[in-house]
Amino acid sequence: SAQDIAAGERSWNKCRACHQIGEGAKNLVGPQLNGLIGRHSGSVEGYSYSAANKSSGITWDEAVFAEYIKDPKAKIPGTKMIFPGIKNDKEILDLTAFLKQYDKD
Ligand code: HEM
Repeated sequence: SAQDIAAGERSWNKCRACHQIGEGAKNLVGPQLNGLIGRHSGSVEGYSYSAANKSSGITWDEAVFAEYIKDPKAKIPGTKMIFPGIKNDKEILDLTAFLKQYDKD
């Protein structure tokens, strides 16, 4: 298939040291990621974002998320997310399919 949720779940292992997703997800080092696709940047209540992320004016649609996660500091200069990025386009698609399973709770 075009998108592979099981592969996306393996890719999520790169994120879970800092992010939670799913029922009861809490903010950790980074904000919880429920309902990410369609969400406005910097909008999770109770999470202390950098000014750069907070004021980036981004809506996380699939294309913008793909650009961001390829090179976070290029898309949001000044982000406090320390992550080198995912360079493989298929891996990004699969990760996106995984993330999209979790609506805002
Ligand atoms: C922010 C995704 C890995 C720490 C964000 C945001 C997204 C995201 C979309 C912006 C959220 C928003 O605007 O509400 C991901 C994904 C990852 C990943 C999909 C794995 C592929 C990591 C890792 C860390 C981390 C490994 C910690 C080492 C953070 C922090 C922020 C953040 C601290 C807040 C940035 C700021 O306020 O400047 N992440 N992330 N993330 N992430 Fe990640």
